[in-house]
Amino acid sequence: MKERLFSGIQPTGGLHIGNYFGAIKNWVKLQEKYECIFGIVDYHAITVNYNPEEMRRRILDCAISYLACGIDPEKSTLMLQSLVPEHTELAWILNTVTPLAWLERVPTFKEKVSQNPQNINTGLLDYPVLMAADILLYKSVVVPVGEDQLPHLELTREIARKFNKTFGYTFPEPREITGKGARILGLDGVNKMSKSLNNCIYLSDSPQVIWKKLSTAVTDTNRKRREDPGNPEVCNLFSMHKLVSKKEEIETVRRGCQRAGIGCLDCKKILAENMSQELEPIREKQNMLWENLKDVEDIIKEGSNKARMIARQTLKEVKEKIGLYFN
Ligand code: TYM
Repeated sequence: MKERLFSGIQPTGGLHIGNYFGAIKNWVKLQEKYECIFGIVDYHAITVNYNPEEMRRRILDCAISYLACGIDPEKSTLMLQSLVPEHTELAWILNTVTPLAWLERVPTFKEKVSQNPQNINTGLLDYPVLMAADILLYKSVVVPVGEDQLPHLELTREIARKFNKTFGYTFPEPREITGKGARILGLDGVNKMSKSLNNCIYLSDSPQVIWKKLSTAVTDTNRKRREDPGNPEVCNLFSMHKLVSKKEEIETVRRGCQRAGIGCLDCKKILAENMSQELEPIREKQNMLWENLKDVEDIIKEGSNKARMIARQTLKEVKEKIGLYFN
């Protein structure tokens, strides 16, 4: 029996290379080793302002990106959170074992409050409990995520521990898996790459768009002129090279930058080329899948039905343990 793994992405807009290198690229590899469930977590996505008319397309876009990146529905389960009501049911139960103070100190809550001052809804505060429910519902043992999700994972473990202590052992405490792209900065070179900050390279960007974005991206800000030596270790684009360029090329760029042998524009040209090469097959597959929406919809529905069978069992066990199983 393989150990189980859950991870998910919010359908809040197109997927970007932070999602790809931080999460999905890892997921694709982990499919061989674990029993994987990959969620499109739409209930999380409605905690910020959004247009209901766009949501269906965003969900499909998310599923299409998973498939285009190499998630194989024969090996893994691809599911939609809102099609498995046990997620929200378990979240409610977990709410009752989660002290309010634990949620108030989660860093992403404070961040979101400052980003959405006009919409500080209860869902924003409760967000990590729903995330804990996503993970614990499948008794997941590992959760591959980017670095920004680690406080949520810590909280998930605390909630699991508290539930187990109160009602008897039920949930394993899940551990995170992070890859070498665990924290990708945006094109501004300062903030995390994020849809809401408009500093992203999207998986759907063409080579022309990728070049346009990279050509104006921030590099080592201390390198003012072409003749100045640069410091690759503080340059965001050099960290992107580490994700997509070959070893020898990375070394050439490093030495060239340190000795002012190459300029930032030369470095960006090589990066744009390699980034496009990595993303082009994904973009082509995405375009093909948009032509076959019925298949994508079927994969989501079948995956959600499959996930629901596991979810029902866990919820039955949980309800029995908390004294709410009335049959
Ligand atoms: P979300 O939708 O913001 O991001 C999805 C995944 O992409 C990673 N990621 C990044 N990694 C590196 N650098 C970046 N700039 C970057 N931006 C995003 C995230 O770390 C994440 O792994 N709360 C989650 C969604 C969620 C979830 C879950 C995840 C809900 N339930 C259960 C795992 C398990 C979120 O907002 O991810």
